[in-house]
Amino acid sequence: MSKFIVVAKAEEILPGQCHTVEVEGKQITVFNVDGNYYALDDNCIHRGGPLGQGNLEENTITCPWHAWKFDVKTGTCLTNPMAKVASYQTKLEGTNVLISF
Ligand code: FES
Repeated sequence: MSKFIVVAKAEEILPGQCHTVEVEGKQITVFNVDGNYYALDDNCIHRGGPLGQGNLEENTITCPWHAWKFDVKTGTCLTNPMAKVASYQTKLEGTNVLISF
C-alpha cells in the first residue's frame, strides 16, 4: 500500500529546478514546473543515468549521459516512446513536498 512521504521543503525546489532524494533506498528526483511538483525515478531507463543532474526545460528533462528526453509530468520518454521511467504522485502540505511511495 502506498503512503505519502515528506521528501523536501517547497523552498528547496524552486520553479525550473529539481532535487534528488533517497526514499527507502531508491533515488527519486522531484521537479518543480511552474509551481507544480512531479517525481520520477532518478535512474534513466536507458543506462541508469542520473536524471536529476540533467537539464530541465519546462517539463522536459534531458538525461546527462546520452540525452534521452523525458516528460517529467508522466515519465514518458520522448526519445524512445517504448520507454518510460516510473512516476510518483506528489502533493504539497503546508511547506512540505510529499510523494506517494
Ligand atoms: S543513460 Fe540516460 S540517455 Fe543513456
